Amino acid sequence: MKISRKILLAATIVFIGIQFWRPIRNTQRQPLETDLSVVVNVPFKVQQLLQQSCYDCHSNNTAYPWYASTQPMAWFMSNHIRKGKSELNFSEFGSYSPRKQSNKLKSVANVVRKEEMPLSSYLWLHRAARLSDIEKLAIIHWADSTALTLDN
Ligand code: HEC
Repeated sequence: MKISRKILLAATIVFIGIQFWRPIRNTQRQPLETDLSVVVNVPFKVQQLLQQSCYDCHSNNTAYPWYASTQPMAWFMSNHIRKGKSELNFSEFGSYSPRKQSNKLKSVANVVRKEEMPLSSYLWLHRAARLSDIEKLAIIHWADSTALTLDN
């Protein structure tokens, strides 16, 4: 067998092999009473935007695309979800102290303002998660003003 064929065969075996090793899925289904929308006032439109652009990595419920069943994509995603949730989990927002809630909302406004979030690698595959300028302003305005009410 030619060396290139051997490499191809080995790569195929590895690719098939890793398909059996799957990360646990981030799907909780039933909404929690600690969810952001229960704890603070979120206008319907803003909630929709957060759901569409942020909840996949910052909540206990990810809407998985078809390729999420394929490795190494699933690992890559699972890693983002784990890190994203540890920084900010909208599903458990109500378990944060008011001070932490306010700080997190200020961070939300900041990362959207600086276009750091949603992650660019995510936007590349999730076109629907892209935010227009008006949508960004809606999130920033809501997050900043809600943070202010929490501070008082
Ligand atoms: C593809 C996954 C993903 C999506 C979608 C996503 N984030 Fe993140 N987010 C992360 C990860 C991972 C981190 C951890 C920090 C890092 O690696 O940059 C993070 C960190 C953060 C932080 C903490 C940063 C800090 O400095 O305190 C905030 C706030 C945040 N995200 C808000 C958002 C908002 C708002 C959206 C939607 C507009 C969003 N994220 C969409 C993955 C994501």
